This record gives sequence, C-alpha cells and structure tokens, in this order.
Amino acid sequence: MIKAKIAELLESDKFLQEVTVNGWVRSFRSNRFIALNDGSTINNIQCVIDFENTSEDILKRITVGAAINIKGTLKESLGSQQKVEVEVTSLEILGDANPEEVKLTILSPKRHTLEKLREQAHLRIRTNTFGAVMRVRSKLSFAVHSYFQQNNFHYVNTPIITGSDAEGAGEMFKVTGMDLNNPERDEQGNIDYKKDFFGKETNLTVSGQLEAETYAMGLGQVYTFGPTFRAENSNTSRHLAEFWMIEPEVAFCDLDGNMDLAEDFIKHVVSYVLEHCKDDLDFLENRLKEDEKTKPEAERSELSLLDKLKFVTENNFKRVSYTEAIDILKNSKPNKKKKFQYPIEEWGADLQSEHERFLVEKHFKCPVILFDYPANIKAFYMRLNEDGKTVRAMDILFPGIGEIVGGSQREERLDVLKEKMKALDIDEKELWWYLDTRRFGTCVHSGFGLGFERLVLFVTGMTNIRDVIAFPRTPQNAEF
Ligand code: 4AD
Ligand code: MG
Repeated sequence: MIKAKIAELLESDKFLQEVTVNGWVRSFRSNRFIALNDGSTINNIQCVIDFENTSEDILKRITVGAAINIKGTLKESLGSQQKVEVEVTSLEILGDANPEEVKLTILSPKRHTLEKLREQAHLRIRTNTFGAVMRVRSKLSFAVHSYFQQNNFHYVNTPIITGSDAEGAGEMFKVTGMDLNNPERDEQGNIDYKKDFFGKETNLTVSGQLEAETYAMGLGQVYTFGPTFRAENSNTSRHLAEFWMIEPEVAFCDLDGNMDLAEDFIKHVVSYVLEHCKDDLDFLENRLKEDEKTKPEAERSELSLLDKLKFVTENNFKRVSYTEAIDILKNSKPNKKKKFQYPIEEWGADLQSEHERFLVEKHFKCPVILFDYPANIKAFYMRLNEDGKTVRAMDILFPGIGEIVGGSQREERLDVLKEKMKALDIDEKELWWYLDTRRFGTCVHSGFGLGFERLVLFVTGMTNIRDVIAFPRTPQNAEF
C-alpha cells in the first residue's frame, strides 16, 4: 500500500496499486464522488465510493471540510476531468465538519470576497486561491535561497531586537520588559532605560542591513531573509507592519554590480516559479482574468499573468537616473494637466508612488531601475557621488507594485560617513561598531533590500499585500 500525496497520485500511472490518502473533502456529489484535497496541489483527486456498501451514517459524515482517510485502488479515470481516480475500498472519518456550522464560514462552497476571507485567515488556506498563493510563496522562498547559495553567498540571521535606531527607514516598535503602568524612572522623572531588560532602549528591527554590512566585511557576500517591522501608519495595499525582507550585501561591489545582482536575482526567482508552479500559476492567471473583467477597460492589464512574468525574465530592466526621471515626469501629460496629487516642480522632489507608477506603467512599460538620487531624500549610509549632491542609491520599480527593491552602494569613507552622520544628528557612539567596518579594511560595497511580499504580489497577480502573507499585521489588525 502506497501512502502518497495527491500531487504524486495525480502524476502516477501505477494503476491497480493500493493507495492510502488523507485529505479534506472539497465536494461530495451523487453520494458517490468525493473531491479530496490535501494541500499538495491545487488539483483534487476524485475518490469514488460504492455507496451501496457504505453505511448511511458514514455517508452523512462525508461533508465539505471534513478530514478523511481513504484506502483504495488507483484507477484510470473514465471521466474526462481527470486522468486517475481512487476506487474506495475503505473510508474513515478523521475529523467531522458539521454542515450547519460550515455554512457560516468561508469553507462553504460559494464565492467569498477577499475581504471576507481575511476575516477568517485561519480557514482561507483551504480555498483554491490561498492554496495557490501560499504554495507559490513557499517555492519563491526556496528559489531565494537556491539563488544565493548557488552564487556563493552566505545566509546570515541578523537580530530582530536591535538597539540601533539609525536606519531612518520608518517608525519603530519599541521592545521593553518594563511594566508599562509603572516604568522605572530616573531622578528627573524620565523613563530610565538603563534599568530595562537590555539596559538600553531597544526596538524591533526595520532592516538587517547595518549588521549584514559587518558580516559582508568578513564573509564577502551575505544575504538575510527575515522578518522586519515598521510602525508607519500607512494603510495601503502595499504596506505591512510586519514583512519579510531579503537583504544581500556584497564586498568589493559597486552600484552597477548591485543593479546587475538585483536584476539577475529577480529573474532567477521568477523563472524558478514559472518552471515549478505551473498548475498554481495557471489557476492564478485565470483568477486574474476574471477579476480584470470587473474593471473598466482602461484599467485592465494588457498582459496576462504568465506573459507579465515571462516579460520580466526575458527583458532587460530599464536603468534611468533620478535626474532623467525628473525630466520625464516634469514634461509628462499628467504633470502638465495637474493630474498628480504631488506635482513635480523641481529637481530634488521625492518620488511618490503615483510618479513611480507613471514611469513604469505608462512611460517605459517595463521594470525600471532608478539610480543616483538626491542625497537629502535618502539614508545616511549611501555613497556620495562626486557631484556632492547625489548618492549611489537605486530603487527598482515594478508594474502594478511600485518600489520592490531599495538599495545602494555604501559610503565606505570614514570621514565622509562621519560628516554625514553629524549633519543628520546621528550619534556616533550609537554606531561605533558600524563605523569600525570603515576603520579596519574598509572597501567599496553594496547591497539592497527586496520586500518579499511585494515580490509574491507581483508573481501571483494578487492586488492586496494582505492576501500574500498568512496572517497580515496592519494598523488596527493583529488578529490570529
Ligand atoms: O527601501 P527600504 O526601506 O530599504 C531598506 O530598508 C534598506 N536598508 C535595504 C538595504 O539596502 N539593505 O525597504 C526595502 C524594501 C522596499 O523596496 C519594499 O519592497 C519593502 O522593503 N518594504 C515593505 N514591504 C511591505 N511593507 C512595508 N511597510 C515595506 N517597507 C518597505
Ligand atoms: Mg525604499
């Protein structure tokens, strides 16, 4: 008897083999055909029971959502829907699902909105959409590791609780062991963090970059892949308060090398899922097609999901300097017609997502890498260019997503870095360890951060970031 996953059985041609399979009932019709799913694939296996020899009591308990075990014979199917099916010899109910109660949940077999599914995030993984999204997410994370491991990068785990607050990437969540109703105070009455758990103020990390840089200075090429936290109150379909970030950091690598790496990396992971997630991507492509039909013609995407993914793997990303981008935006139709919420008037303006999306979706119609941003709209650690006003920063912008990657060549010159920190009022004493990397064998180095959920959004064609992570954390929402 073979104990197998449904994905394997559906590919098998070992007909007449005895098999045992566990799963959840997706449907049961004519007292005869069970569609069973075990999460290994989007496809169900059809199990055919001999109802005349099955007790009335068992038949009644084969309900949508119930967990069952089936033993039977693998047969070539006579139906046109599937190649194989299981002729059931014995069936055991492992976990009942009361139909009256199921009716009140998203497990009930009818169309539910994504908003409704979010309210039952613990059950939504039993739907086709979430099964597909989460299998693709899992394969994508494997592809992330396989890319870096094949290319001689080392995986490092940077701390989740940090004492440095100099990234400037966003608001931070505080971490404390103190009793909030009665915190330790100093003589002036201020909260005394010296008496807190770590003896200093601490928070959840917004990025592992600074620590990763120190490791690149010994291991040469490293990457992180872990959770990061931002307490920004931005309630959008692109922002989470807890998201996963991939941050490679490479010694002896300049901004051009960094852009090459980011582009090659993204192409690898997208190709990997195109090859390994065929059934799920086909399902998601159809889902998107249906979804697009509900939109006005002008808002519909010109390419299907698979075409969009292939486009990314087969074409070069367009590399454009910030200065060129500002010129394009200044002279653009929406800018002249005052259609932008934030009109572009002069060089130095920070780009909003409306501008990024115009460049990617309307102007270039392909992924874009913007580089050499004004120094004063970017973080302190980015390398100053010879012009004294721009830094070696790069952002990658994707259609439908906006910014998917943010990175830079790092300022490796101790004196320039210290001056910048002074100008921004960043305490040298807080970052003494970071500055040490510039004291002992400093070198040109670069890295970037890719928001994993934004990548999953792009690859699955989903539109809200809350639908590509199991249990989203957003303002006013930490259920589950
Ligand atoms: O551009 P960010 O803030 O860059 C950094 O944190 C650098 N330290 C990275 C580095 O150079 N090592 O964030 C990087 C990426 C963004 O491009 C975006 O994809 C994602 O992280 N991101 C978010 N994703 C979901 N929700 C949020 N609130 C996000 N904020 C940033
Ligand atoms: Mg950024």
